[in-house]
Amino acid sequence: MKILVTGGTGYIGSHTCVELIAEGHEVIILDNLYNSRIDVLDKIEQISGVRPKFYEADILDKEGLEKVFAENDFDAVIHFAGYKAVGESVSIPLTYYENNISGSINLYQMMKKYKVRNLVFSSSATVYGDDFEVPFKEEYGLGTTTNPYGTTKKMNEMIITDMDIAEPENSSVLLRYFNPIGAHESGLIGEIPNGIPNNLVPYIAQVVSGQRDYLRVWGNDYDTVDGTGVRDYIHVVDLARAHVKAIEYAASHKGTEVINIGTGKGYSVLEVLHAYEKACGHEIPYQIMERRPGDIAVCYADTKKAEGLLGFKAEYDIDRMCEDSYRFTCNLSKE
Ligand code: NAD
Ligand code: UD1
Repeated sequence: MKILVTGGTGYIGSHTCVELIAEGHEVIILDNLYNSRIDVLDKIEQISGVRPKFYEADILDKEGLEKVFAENDFDAVIHFAGYKAVGESVSIPLTYYENNISGSINLYQMMKKYKVRNLVFSSSATVYGDDFEVPFKEEYGLGTTTNPYGTTKKMNEMIITDMDIAEPENSSVLLRYFNPIGAHESGLIGEIPNGIPNNLVPYIAQVVSGQRDYLRVWGNDYDTVDGTGVRDYIHVVDLARAHVKAIEYAASHKGTEVINIGTGKGYSVLEVLHAYEKACGHEIPYQIMERRPGDIAVCYADTKKAEGLLGFKAEYDIDRMCEDSYRFTCNLSKE
């Protein structure tokens, strides 16, 4: 298939491009480079042997977007482009709604105009909110989101569902990611955090590379194995492979499917920290702090639907996620 990947130079997008190319798909990337670097294209080429066609374009720019659709005959779109910082979305909600909602609507309108019917959208486990029991199941539906970022994911899910009802030829897969971490085994692509990381593994990586003094562990009085928060961490390469399965599923079905992408297994903050210590070969300093507002105790996926519908099962364990993250972190610090 000829696939447009919006946000394709970003963290999850770049890994997905590598896996799509490996499966013989043609990849065209659209990104405004707001949160990624142009040299990611070199890295994708180094890993896969193919340099994807690239458009430096913004989904908010309708004319620029139309040019990309007019010049290519896409079979499908994988839509990653968007802003993703939870805390920032609370401070600048309109910017988040503009980029993640208006930008997405521009893209969906272009897909309608050019009759591109197959879509995979990056949603998030955040749409479950704090309303349900673990493991989170797709059939629970949408919970109460706690920040504008989460609300943009929920609204996109609703918009796409309505769009597919109006256009029965459409086929969309809404992937609810749990916590993607790790990097490609080559150490060439991974997550490059912008500023002080909010998420756990990017923060640990910066402690290990000497940019931060210690990890602040947000609370150790939850009802979990060691009192620290539990999450379903998934290797970004596993997540990328799920996209290949999802876009192939979309191309052979009609309608809208919501699918969790996680491992189904939760790890506590301290368990992740210890796995990272194993990967880097030394202790990592940390301090227990108060709980972070808005955090939930435990979050992990019910993965049955991904297995049944897509035939997808995550392969890599937490040790591998930390080893690959560490390799990428070492390469970054050499730059
Ligand atoms: P990322 O920031 O690394 O990638 C997003 C890419 O989109 C960046 O390269 C950025 O430059 C680009 N972009 C942003 N706004 C754009 C615009 N208006 N026009 C064109 N390009 C634009 O983020 P990521 O971690 O790869 O996440 C990809 C998607 O997955 C996002 O939609 C994110 O919300 C979602 N998601 C991520 C996580 C996570 O933990 N990383 C979890 C759940 C969902
Ligand atoms: C966060 C977002 C969520 C988003 C997800 C993936 C919040 C409230 N939620 O989820 O919307 O979809 O990232 O991008 O921000 N932790 C520490 N110290 C740190 C960082 C994290 O102890 O410096 C702990 C957290 O309390 C949590 C776990 O590590 O228990 C994972 O945190 P994080 O990586 O931020 O992910 P989520 O909270 O799951």
